[in-house]
Amino acid sequence: MPSKVSCLYVLTVVCWASALWYLSISRPSSSYVGQLAVPARKTAKSKNVTFSNIRTRPLNPHAFDFVVNEPKKCEADDPFLVILISTTHKEFDARQAIRETWGDESTFADIRVITLFLLGKNTDAVLNQMVEQESQIFHDIVVEDFVDSYHNLTLKTLMGMRWVATYCPKAKYVMKTDSDIFVNMDNLVYKLLKPTTKPRRRYFTGYVINGGPIRDMRSKWYMSRDLYPDSKYPPFCSGTGYVFSADVAELIYKTSLHTRLLHLEDVYVGLCLRKLGIHPFQNSGFNHWKMAYSLCRYRRVITVHQISPEEMHRIWNDMSSKKHLRC
Ligand SMILES: *[C@@H]1O[C@H](CO)[C@@H](O)[C@H](O)[C@H]1NC(C)=O
Ligand SMILES: *[C@@H]1O[C@H](CO)[C@@H](O)[C@H](O)[C@H]1NC(C)=O
Repeated sequence: MPSKVSCLYVLTVVCWASALWYLSISRPSSSYVGQLAVPARKTAKSKNVTFSNIRTRPLNPHAFDFVVNEPKKCEADDPFLVILISTTHKEFDARQAIRETWGDESTFADIRVITLFLLGKNTDAVLNQMVEQESQIFHDIVVEDFVDSYHNLTLKTLMGMRWVATYCPKAKYVMKTDSDIFVNMDNLVYKLLKPTTKPRRRYFTGYVINGGPIRDMRSKWYMSRDLYPDSKYPPFCSGTGYVFSADVAELIYKTSLHTRLLHLEDVYVGLCLRKLGIHPFQNSGFNHWKMAYSLCRYRRVITVHQISPEEMHRIWNDMSSKKHLRC
């Protein structure tokens, strides 16, 4: 019965909205203090590993299942761009702000863009249920059954790569970004990716960092010598936003199966790129720091970091309403 269906739908929305309100007032300040310790790695290396074992048994098998999925999202029409947004369960308002601003899949009439939020499994069953309900409303959430935590961000990115390789292999480009990033979609699509030109292959760009491991245990980016003995990382793009041709998704995912996992997802993707012989391009439009809002400045960027949901709306509204103004 249509009335029953819509009644259920309304109930779901109301329930979801009130839960969202509840969370927005009770949300603890996000802080990673206390999660700095590097988890002990299981070094279950058998002494009797043969050559054939090394070849056939992945070092990092990524043996997870999709528990929330959108397997048909690409079926009707190959998208030009898939945007993968790393997010956590409680960031309901950040996801909603993105849906209503730059992540709106219907922004361009002639360019097909898909927006997907990436999550693992929370240890709190209520949060998992809320995310499932949110997914039933918006159909833009993908969850695998690994434990969602800061130290598992690499698994989240690899899940996104796997999703593109499995369900959307004919997409042209992919962007991986975070839930506190403002993306200037016009610049990303028309200035950088240029839909009228031949799609690139083995292409990777963002804010390139040439750095080395931080050995200070108090740092959010601490890396132990045990896990990464070298003093330099290969060039990598800041995880706040990087863009690549869709063929790279499968290449990275497959390379990761034979590459020891590191918890810093952007560094890890850099390691996979080096193995693949793909060099990330520097692009000054990707800002991995916060940048005060000004219309003319934001018109020149591709990404800006540390944008709250409220700012996201304000920036979007201002830019949308001033399209006629010149800088
Ligand atoms: C390795 O293989 C040898 C001979 O096949 C066997 O005696 C030994 O117990 C094995 N060691 C391990 C750690 O499995
Ligand atoms: C990462 O996910 C795996 C698989 O679910 C889990 O065993 C592990 O405890 C998680 N690590 C952290 C640091 O949460």
